[in-house]
Amino acid sequence: MGAGRTRAQQTNANEPPPMKSRATQSGSPWGAAPARLWSVALAAAPLLLAACGSKEHLRQYPQTTFYPTTQYARTTDGLFMLSLILGVLVGAAVLGIMVYFLWRYRYRPGAPEPKQIHGNTRLEVAWTLIPAVILACIAVPTVRAIFNTQPEPPADALTVEVVGKQWWWEFRYPQPNGDTVITANEIHVPVGRTVHLLLKSDNVLHSFWVPQMGGKRDLITNRVNHLIFKPEQTGVYFGQCAEFCGESHSLMRMRMIAHTPQGFQQWLTSEAAPAAEPLPTDSAVALGKQLVTTGPCVACHTIKGTPMAGRTGPSLTHFGRRRTLAAGILDNNAENLRRWLRDPPEMKPGSRMPKLDLGEQQITYIVAYLQSLQ
Ligand code: CUA
Repeated sequence: MGAGRTRAQQTNANEPPPMKSRATQSGSPWGAAPARLWSVALAAAPLLLAACGSKEHLRQYPQTTFYPTTQYARTTDGLFMLSLILGVLVGAAVLGIMVYFLWRYRYRPGAPEPKQIHGNTRLEVAWTLIPAVILACIAVPTVRAIFNTQPEPPADALTVEVVGKQWWWEFRYPQPNGDTVITANEIHVPVGRTVHLLLKSDNVLHSFWVPQMGGKRDLITNRVNHLIFKPEQTGVYFGQCAEFCGESHSLMRMRMIAHTPQGFQQWLTSEAAPAAEPLPTDSAVALGKQLVTTGPCVACHTIKGTPMAGRTGPSLTHFGRRRTLAAGILDNNAENLRRWLRDPPEMKPGSRMPKLDLGEQQITYIVAYLQSLQ
């Protein structure tokens, strides 16, 4: 209530006064209220930019580009800031000159026509050269950044295959023994080691984007794209698909979890293990396993250690330890999993997982089993 009133008062204070009073009160050709708005906007701009780099901004907008944490992301952020600053300077100069000329040569009764300057060679050379120099100031760092962000990956780089699906992410970690560790929607990486992503799609176009780690890169059928960056800080980073790919494009999200090198190795080792076997005493989990491994789930999902080997849907081998479900749109807990199992297309329009004919008791068993897959 109190906050609401404050906001309303602020809004009123910022509103320009009615046209009539503005024209009569002020001697300035621009009027008092717009001048005040301009000064507020000019004062707020640096504050806004500073806020974009703050921890609070990061908490509120975890998918920010204003908090780069890799050399790659800092490079693109630097380019953005450079073109933003140049754009603001050019815009201010052009608008300032325009406003000055509008005022200087405004219509006055009886005044003679101003001197015409058509065909002034010096002016024409100047306004051709100045934009060329400004564009060069952007082009040179841009071309340098293109090369700097696409280095040859070092021999010890971690290679992860990323496959864009409708509408989720598959992450595949090829192992030295020929095995592949497969997970979905949560990509785990170590800090201090270069990550080399091989981006692929077996359906439509998608685009991989974890803003704090680097730029967007498309996943294209019949082609492998590369994204190379070195994570520096442990933590959980938000990302999502950045190329329209169908009904649930906006629900195609992901988390990138950056571990310490030891933490990453532990994760990889445990992720490579087959799924946990239900304890014989826990009947709900055992009944759930029976339902999952003999029911329709078999057609699309893999659970390592069981006969299930489908590739249409995400691997569920260690589903229970994922933070989220349905490609990052829901926290992974019993309540959300129940909602998902009751009607997947309701949560994610166009979902390739159809509404299954499951009773509430069956859902309880399936949830118990899936949550046990730690
Ligand atoms: Cu995948 Cu948009």
